[in-house]
Amino acid sequence: MDTNPFAGHVDRRPEVAPPEAAQLLRDAFGVAGSLTELGSHQDRNYRVDVADGAAAGRRRYVFKIARGGLGRAALEAENAAMLRAASAGLPFEVPVPQEARDGSLIAHAVVAAGTAHHLRLVTYLEGSPLDTFGYLAPSVLHAHGEMAAGMTLALEGFDHAGLDRVLQWDIRHAASVVEALLPYCSTPARRALAEQAAGRATEALASLEAKLRVRVVHQDVTDVNTVARADRAGRPMPCGLIDFGDLSRTWLAADLAVVIAADSFHALDAPLQLARDVARGYLALVPLEPAELAAVWPMVVSRAAAVAVSGDQQGALEPDNTYVHATRAEEWAAFEAVAAVPFALAEEVLREAAGLGPSRRVTLPADAVRPVDVAANRVRVLDLSTTSGALSGAATGDTAAVEAAVNAVRVKGGIPLGRWGEARLTDAELDTTIEAATVHLGADLFLSGGMVVRAPVAGVVRHTPAGVVIGVGSFDIRLDGVVPSVAAGVGVDAGDEIGRVSGDGPGGLPALLHAQVVAVPGLEAPRRTVPSLARAWQALCPDPAELLGLAGPLVVAPTDDPAALLARRNAVLAGVQIHYYDAPPRIERGWRHHLIDTTGRSYIDVVNNVAILGHSHPAVEAAVTRQLRLLNTNSRFLYGVMTEFAEALAARFPALLDTVFLVNTGSEAVELALRLARVATGRLDVLAVRGAYHGWTGAADAITSSHIDNARAAGTRPDWVRLVEAPNTYRGPHRGAVAGALYAADVQRVLGELAAAGRGPAAFIAEPLFGNAGGVVLPDGYLREAYADVRAAGGLAIADEVQTGYARLGHHQWAFEQQGVVPDVVTVAKAAGNGVAVGAVVTTRAIADAFAAEGSFFSSVGGSPVGCAAGLAVLETIDREGLQANARIVGDRLRDGLREVAAAHPGIVGAVHGMGLYLGVELVRSPETLEPATEEALAICERMRELGVITQPTGDGNNVLKVKPPLCLTRDSADVVVEVLERTLAEGW
Ligand SMILES: Cc1ncc(COP(=O)(O)O)c(C=O)c1O
Repeated sequence: MDTNPFAGHVDRRPEVAPPEAAQLLRDAFGVAGSLTELGSHQDRNYRVDVADGAAAGRRRYVFKIARGGLGRAALEAENAAMLRAASAGLPFEVPVPQEARDGSLIAHAVVAAGTAHHLRLVTYLEGSPLDTFGYLAPSVLHAHGEMAAGMTLALEGFDHAGLDRVLQWDIRHAASVVEALLPYCSTPARRALAEQAAGRATEALASLEAKLRVRVVHQDVTDVNTVARADRAGRPMPCGLIDFGDLSRTWLAADLAVVIAADSFHALDAPLQLARDVARGYLALVPLEPAELAAVWPMVVSRAAAVAVSGDQQGALEPDNTYVHATRAEEWAAFEAVAAVPFALAEEVLREAAGLGPSRRVTLPADAVRPVDVAANRVRVLDLSTTSGALSGAATGDTAAVEAAVNAVRVKGGIPLGRWGEARLTDAELDTTIEAATVHLGADLFLSGGMVVRAPVAGVVRHTPAGVVIGVGSFDIRLDGVVPSVAAGVGVDAGDEIGRVSGDGPGGLPALLHAQVVAVPGLEAPRRTVPSLARAWQALCPDPAELLGLAGPLVVAPTDDPAALLARRNAVLAGVQIHYYDAPPRIERGWRHHLIDTTGRSYIDVVNNVAILGHSHPAVEAAVTRQLRLLNTNSRFLYGVMTEFAEALAARFPALLDTVFLVNTGSEAVELALRLARVATGRLDVLAVRGAYHGWTGAADAITSSHIDNARAAGTRPDWVRLVEAPNTYRGPHRGAVAGALYAADVQRVLGELAAAGRGPAAFIAEPLFGNAGGVVLPDGYLREAYADVRAAGGLAIADEVQTGYARLGHHQWAFEQQGVVPDVVTVAKAAGNGVAVGAVVTTRAIADAFAAEGSFFSSVGGSPVGCAAGLAVLETIDREGLQANARIVGDRLRDGLREVAAAHPGIVGAVHGMGLYLGVELVRSPETLEPATEEALAICERMRELGVITQPTGDGNNVLKVKPPLCLTRDSADVVVEVLERTLAEGW
């Protein structure tokens, strides 16, 4: 006889067609409306749209026809729970049962198949089911965890006789369900996985069961049952919970497990990180006890297994249930993902979410010996961290760099030691959308091959491809890099020789002994892990200082806490000196167009127009270092590099622009340019483009009217500033071939106003490509006409090339070339020193000489030897490395790729602006109104950062993603940027 209640258990959906259902609804509830079938595993549910007339609007319900076998008491329990939750003041909605014509909440009917069914009508919750969204941001997961906890709290003390039943979805029965339904698994591999994983989970739960609290819980807070509405940033925030059909008196922690199991499909490659976010939300409201935390993952696996095998069963029984078929692949994928996670690791992750420390301690026996005989006082830290001075560049995967660093320690007689807990630069990866495993869980002693290795403690030897493991019983000691001399399975005593250090290190590294303590016997711990799981893995692989007989500070890498640094920064620096991101990564290293944070996560940097050659360029480093050793002083002395730099810079401009002033920053350059114009013309007034940014100093700030930099700008400019309409062909009033002339007409209008007031312009200043609007190319003819009109009125034309110059446009060296004009004065900075403060004003000899009327010009460090050495190196490197051509080729490719993404997402991408490697992706809420997608842009930047791309919004609506990377950007990296944007927009953010 079959003792498993779930074996052969078949619940088919009631056979009720829509017209019949509509009739039942009218008869039982007196409600008429149009019916739309909603998906369900075992019941028949219809959404009912009731037309109440225009004034009352539409009302919506869900008409639920319960499956045949379902007793009335269970439905009464559900109804009671819904009513309880509805009145509990929860921050989300639940369905509310409606009265039937006879005043009851449950009607009864015999339908076509001759079976009696219970009928209910509940309110419909507006929103979209959470499962229809791809990516769920940490804040969404947190809210989902809170929702489950809120439901648990609302049901505190609730009970009902209708819950005295054996429910297939009660998590306590998951193992029996899996066992009973195994024959339905559609492939042998699925069957094997279900059997094995559910078996492990059952075993784990059996050992914890006595400590698990039992309560009445909803037990079905899944993404499918959660209704979400987009917040301002477009993130789907949970706002409603439906389906009380799995309400059970079961393990309290089930609600948390169910959310994690269901949501894990949204992060198949990172189920633990997802679980931690959910758990943080849940545990803040419902703290779980340590045993319950340990039980959560086995419950997650049980639940996922039960869902997956039930899907296969339902699919086999109901080949026409499209809802079941659509979700099966997802359910199996989620199950596989959660089943692959070691329970012990998940436990540590959940403890971390609960604010608890490691669950296990490893105590070495008193007779432990060192595995190798090295003089402790000769051991030296081999710094392989991201801030290591021993490594240069990115050093990712660079075994030669490690070897050189090892040798540098050895020549001084030291024994190099790679630290435990260190995020190593050498393990970082570039151009990747996922985290690399950078954090080391053991310590590495770089030794000579052939050295004797001894068993540090008594235990049983196991062989691994990398070396040996000593199984101690309550923990393991893993020693990689050992050629074993003792057979596997042999017991050894502390001090017994077990092998020798292998002559070859792993992956081409020098010979080393990797020592790792693993607190769970038999656990296959990796040598290194991703930063987001480092804390949990470190709890399982505690530091091996004692094992090696070395001091903790030598073996344990210092921990880095970016949040603490941010707090210090905020405490000492002015709050208005802003920083990127709410929780910024700590960036201490840059290489080419990559930034690497202190966890070893690399990012493609598309925001950095200062490091035009790429970060940490060796040519700049060499030039600056050399110059610092020789001389660095003020610019009143005669030294060669000042002239050389000025000559090289001037040579890049049209012949008339032959005279250079050297300063430090863009603001200074703009300040000086305005002063030159005023002195040369004897006038005061300056025409500037509305919404532009030109710097923070007095006059540069005065002509800046960018709203995002200063919300009060429009109303507070001094009266000598004359703003002209922004020549923005995307947002402004004019488009097409005549746009240039029409925008230039506004310059003429302002000039006319000035003339009418008896005044004349000193200058007209504009970026020749509208940077602050996100890289908008100016309409053809705009600057030509504007310059002609300004000059005709006696003013000078100033091109602010602080952002746009230095070959960034690829097709042009200077942005003014794109407009076919030659300005009278040009300002440069930012890129000019690749991050070293260098700025310049380039103008005609006559204009420069006119300054004499105001005395002389002197900027102490402007034009300093070091600044000039950097400036010269930048110009030479742009030529030597062909960076302008690269900006053109890679920039065009990037622009085309971004435009393809834009075409695929017209609901959010309004336009891709720019040229070369000065691009901007403008995000809008509607292609008609062009309402800036401000909050969305920030959220999208967060998600893109998670995927390894650093960008930030700009523009007056803070809605244009900046794409202005170092000019060394490669095609591959450009393709990753496109891929990341596409993925972000496709999956959500
Ligand atoms: C167009 C333009 N001009 C001038 C400046 C001011 O340059 P700096 O920040 O070096 O003072 C900036 C800075 O963003 C700029 O974008």
